[in-house]
Amino acid sequence: MSLFINTLRGKASNETPVWLMRQAGRYLPEYRKLREKSSMLEMVQTPEMAAEVTLQPLRRFPLDAAIIFADILTPLIGMGIDLEFKKGEGPVIDNPVRTASDVRALAVPAPEENVGYTLDAIKLVVKELNGKTPLIGFSGAPFTLSSYLIEGHSPGDLLHTKGMMVGDPPLWHELQEKLVTLCVEYLVAQVEAGCESLQIFDSWLGYVGPREYDKFVAPYLMKLITQVKARVDVPVVFFATGVSALFPRLGKLPADAFGVDWRISLPEAHAAIGRSVPLQGNLDPQILAAPWEYIEGAARAVLDEGREIPAHVFNLGHGVLQHTPVDNVQRLIELVKGYRR
Ligand code: CP3
Repeated sequence: MSLFINTLRGKASNETPVWLMRQAGRYLPEYRKLREKSSMLEMVQTPEMAAEVTLQPLRRFPLDAAIIFADILTPLIGMGIDLEFKKGEGPVIDNPVRTASDVRALAVPAPEENVGYTLDAIKLVVKELNGKTPLIGFSGAPFTLSSYLIEGHSPGDLLHTKGMMVGDPPLWHELQEKLVTLCVEYLVAQVEAGCESLQIFDSWLGYVGPREYDKFVAPYLMKLITQVKARVDVPVVFFATGVSALFPRLGKLPADAFGVDWRISLPEAHAAIGRSVPLQGNLDPQILAAPWEYIEGAARAVLDEGREIPAHVFNLGHGVLQHTPVDNVQRLIELVKGYRR
């Protein structure tokens, strides 16, 4: 069993495994080169290209895990929405889901017909990695996927989303049920294709207060993770940002580990979660674009805090930013690989 999987299983050793969210992407010149000729969607939807992009950071750095190159939004295309990644704007959905008939029209296709390209990319990557490095599969969480579906773009505010949530609970329920099914099947299919770990991204959960979390979000997260864990035996990591105050509630989810952003220290997050669980995180990605002298101290502080919790996977508190110097990423990973708990 690899260092990464063992650590997520709570079996910490004196080494801290490391991977970075968005470790593949625009900060890498070799990614930008491919991206000159193809759109983000073409790259995800062509298995050979998606596999190549997944492997790019592993050729440069001694990472302990790979993450399949896809997006949390690509599985929504098969539901019947028009998704585009627009330059400078990010994801745009031209036909947002606002009414009962919009929700009812959403299909829940099987992963093989919906995202066969990602499953094929996983098989190519697993073959290439040849048992040396585990591959992470992932999905968005129902709340965050809803926020894109309903707002139609990266949610600056969540007025339409919360409007449906609290204004029409039966319709919200219907949408959440469809998304839970889509996500469970997608996550299970990724494991069947060869992924050894799963991560669930709930990037916008930090905008939800405890009352609405309990009523409109928690039941579906509980169902999603419970169903996945009943079907596949791989560690499931739950990641959200801005949720320091929700950790006591999130701790009740049956996730095997939690991703932590930079707004809280690892020991404080662990105490708030309230049970013995491995944590992943949490260097501020904006700090990783700062002078190395500062980064080094900040990264060592994260590693030292990681010794105060039962098991620690080093990561950033969110994805690598586009303007991060590659050299900073290189030095960071070497620092983590040289560290002993
Ligand atoms: O390396 C990896 O981490 C794996 C691939 C991955 C991508 N997106 C590729 C991508 C993963 C795991 C994601 C998850 C994702 N996508 C999330 C959850 C994590 C988070 O960041 O909160 C969210 C909210 C999205 C939605 C999304 N996709 C946005 C808001 C954007 C535009 C912003 C941006 O950075 O351009 C994307 C596009 C996207 N997804 C890119 C990449 C590499 C940039 C594509 C490009 O233009 O080349």
